[in-house]
Amino acid sequence: MAGWLVRDYSQNDLEAVVRVDTESGTAGEPPLFPLSDAVAALQALHPAVVAVADDVVVGAAVSRVEGDRAWILRVCMAPAWRRRELGSALITALENRLFAGGVRTVHAVLPEGETGAAALCDCDFGARPGLVFFEKRRPVTPQAAGMLSSLGAELPPGGLWQKVAGMHREKRLIERRLVLPLAHPELAAQHGVELPRAVMLFGPPGTGKSTFAHAIASRLGWPLLELFPARLAAEYGLATGLNRRFDEIARLDHVLVFIDEVEEIAGTRCGANATAVGVVNELLKAIVRFRSQDGRLLVCATNNVTTLDSAFLRHGRFDYVLPIGPPDRSARVALWESYLARAGAEADSGALSSASEGFTPADIAHVARTVSQAQFERTFDTGARARPTTDHYLDAIRDTKPTVSAAMAQEFAEQTEKFARL
Ligand SMILES: Nc1ncnc2c1ncn2[C@@H]1O[C@H](COP(=O)(O)OP(=O)(O)OP(=O)(O)O)[C@@H](O)[C@H]1O
Ligand SMILES: [Mg+2]
Repeated sequence: MAGWLVRDYSQNDLEAVVRVDTESGTAGEPPLFPLSDAVAALQALHPAVVAVADDVVVGAAVSRVEGDRAWILRVCMAPAWRRRELGSALITALENRLFAGGVRTVHAVLPEGETGAAALCDCDFGARPGLVFFEKRRPVTPQAAGMLSSLGAELPPGGLWQKVAGMHREKRLIERRLVLPLAHPELAAQHGVELPRAVMLFGPPGTGKSTFAHAIASRLGWPLLELFPARLAAEYGLATGLNRRFDEIARLDHVLVFIDEVEEIAGTRCGANATAVGVVNELLKAIVRFRSQDGRLLVCATNNVTTLDSAFLRHGRFDYVLPIGPPDRSARVALWESYLARAGAEADSGALSSASEGFTPADIAHVARTVSQAQFERTFDTGARARPTTDHYLDAIRDTKPTVSAAMAQEFAEQTEKFARL
């Protein structure tokens, strides 16, 4: 005499099933399907069975049917009923109902070492060796999304990282120092790596500092919140505004905070007026507070690293001070190729790259847009599809002044020598 009776689940059993489920787990890992999925399946009357002893529910098996497949979402039992073949009885009863209902395949995924595994084997379920279970989670919950939008934060679209053309050296550095530790905090901790909290990007205008900030957020799947000092100043006064904003930011789980042109609020204090001193102090305090929480990164960008207050760049505030320079030759080739492909052009990216020394990604984008627009208009004028050639691009390059002159490149190299902290 087994001591239990297996029968179909009925709506009155819901509370008892939830109770048994919370007592049942034996593995450290949570099950693949959260309890809310199992409850939803029960409420939608997907096949499920319960085991009852003395009118008390002591076990349950819950499924969800999708076409001719079914997932076993749960096999759970009260601890006193383990190792008495109750699991096998529940699975057998459930699979009978599933197969009778037209299901052809039944799947189950269990945490390693979970009780139900032996029962599944007993019921002739075959384990599939060689499969690896992948998953990706979006760290922002719908509730957090409401708070984010009220703060003006946005979740950047996926794939921005891949869209950053060329810039291999900078990408590699940012990926290794920032993205990987933040994306794999446990592994970083095992190596004694402290998570980065704040980074300063510096470089000439248009080299991609803002682009990198968005790409990092996209890669991490974190929302990006840009702080606009001028707006904060207008609303509350800058020092108070910063203080308030960072208080609000502290309530978010994950966030990348971006401050562009940070020299406007963290400029050198000598010669500055009294408010500016208060503002720099407020920002320094905010960074200290910001650093004490997990799941966040502050990215500041500046064109003019030499004018930053020296207290600001001191160790302990910014983990890295990274130069984002004008693209090197290979980065320019990659940038040109991405624009040529978009314009359907058959032009020589090597020649364009050589002719555009000192051009920033923004300059290259400008030339590409000019050529595309001209060809688009030509198509309308002639009635035949115009295609840009190498010469079209070379002409437009000649008409464009590179943002980074030789003198600026030299200056940037000196700043890199003096300020960079990689
Ligand atoms: N590596 C890149 N690949 C493709 N496009 C890029 C790249 N870097 C920058 N761009 C494009 O160039 C333009 C300028 O880049 P961005 O605004 O990021 O520069 P910035 O360094 O923030 O400039 P600023 O110092 O003026 O704020 C943008 O339109 C951006 O999309
Ligand atoms: Mg910018």
